[in-house]
Parts: sequence; C-alpha cells; structure tokens
Amino acid sequence: MFTAVPEGLARALTAACGATPPAVHYAETIGSTNDAAAALAEAGAPAGTVVVADQQTAGRGRLGRSWSSPPGAGIYLSYLARGARLVAAPGPVTLGAGTATADAVRAATGLTPGLKWPNDLVVGAAWRKLGGILTEAHGEAVIVGVGLNVTPAAHPADVQQRATDLESELGRAIDRDALTAAVVAGLRDVLARVEAGRTAEVIERWRACAAPGWAGAAVRWADGEGIARDVDADGALIVEREGRRERVVAGEVAWRHLR
Ligand code: BTN
Repeated sequence: MFTAVPEGLARALTAACGATPPAVHYAETIGSTNDAAAALAEAGAPAGTVVVADQQTAGRGRLGRSWSSPPGAGIYLSYLARGARLVAAPGPVTLGAGTATADAVRAATGLTPGLKWPNDLVVGAAWRKLGGILTEAHGEAVIVGVGLNVTPAAHPADVQQRATDLESELGRAIDRDALTAAVVAGLRDVLARVEAGRTAEVIERWRACAAPGWAGAAVRWADGEGIARDVDADGALIVEREGRRERVVAGEVAWRHLR
C-alpha cells in the first residue's frame, strides 16, 4: 500500500521539521489515513509517525460522517502521538490540532481561516468549510487526522454546498507539499506543548484563532439552545442558557446564524 515519499514532500518535511523529520508513510490511494495510522500504532510505530495520502476511498469525518477525499484535491494526513498526558487531555489536543492547522494554513498560504468549535477550519462570513480534524485515541496512542480542501473537486452535493478550498479562496495554486509539512511541524509542536502541560496557552491560542463572531453567537446542541460564550481550560464550549452557563463537550453544535 505504501510507496516512496514523493521527493518534493520529503524536501518540504526536512525544511519544516529540521534535523529530525518524522517517519512518513505515503500512499497514492488509501482507505483512511487515520485507520492506517491506527494499524501502525498497534504494530508499535513510534510517536511522530505520519501517514499521508493523495486520495482516500474511505475517509472518515467527525460524528460518523464520511470525508470526501478525491485524488490530488486535498491534504489527507494523520499524525500519531503517544502519551498518557495526551490521552488525558482530549480537549486541548483537539483544539490545539485546530490551531496548529489554522496557523500552518496562514503561514504557508497567507489565508487566515477561522476555527468553528471544536476545530473545523472555516472561511468568510458564511463559515464555508475548508478543513476538518478527526482526533481518535487508541490505548495510549492519539491519532490526529487532518483533511484540507486544496483544489475545487467533485464532492457530494451536501459537501459542495458548504465547503470551500484554498485555491478557490486565493485565486492561485498553492504548494501542497509545503502546506503538508507546515501542518506536520505545527502538530508536532502543539502536541509537545500539551504533553508538557502547557494547555492554557493552547486554549488561549484557540480563542485567538476562532472564527469572528463566534462568541455571542446563538447555538443549538444535542439537548438545548443558547449563546456561545467561551471555551474552558479543558476545551469544552461554554454556552449560556436562561442565564446559566453550561459546558458542551462533544457532538454536533449548530451555529444558528448559519441556518
Ligand atoms: C471532520 O469531520 O471535520 C473531520 C474530518 C477529518 C478528515 C481527515 S482526512 C485525513 C484523516 N483520515 C480520515 O479518515 N479522516 C481524517
């Protein structure tokens, strides 16, 4: 399934990650990079292992959804991390992965995406989705899967309606290898910070990267409606309902101004 890492990608990873570039497994076509990373984790692959694919045939999104992953149209990668402190901090890992990816997009392309809690990358007033992150724990391994739309592509109609891609937003081609490498370097850095217990700065960075207008927006979640106010130290969304503050930790949150 895996083939040699394309030269351009290998070069970009060395440039972004310095003397110790990660062990990368590359596939032209794969089911899901998260599933492949989980299998590698099971087989004892070290922390920092990365799986990158040009196309996924069974890409997975949050909440059991699929992730449309046509060939050459996006970035599909999974980063394998290990450690009890990461497993114990799913919120900071999840939100931190979002900030690392948003920061990498900005640094590599000049476009500044916003984050929609917990870690969708969105663009513009309509919050069109540019990318998403699927974080999964397997024992003491944590797999962070990142999907970014890079070029316009034939997605299913529901995706087409609410998605965007980097090249459409920027009106020019981007260097996919450089962006892939920037995301990998950013994930490595943010996960090291969570592991070192520096979660407060990760959450603070999330607030800075959040999509404009998120705080104060009306939201609906599994069992209620209210106003988004903040995120807490564990990465939960703090909402206000009838004057009382509540934590929302998982599941679907619909932002009502988008309806
Ligand atoms: C979301 O629902 O927003 C999360 C999407 C995550 C997609 C990425 S693509 C690479 C990795 N492999 C997968 O199967 N999913 C993630």
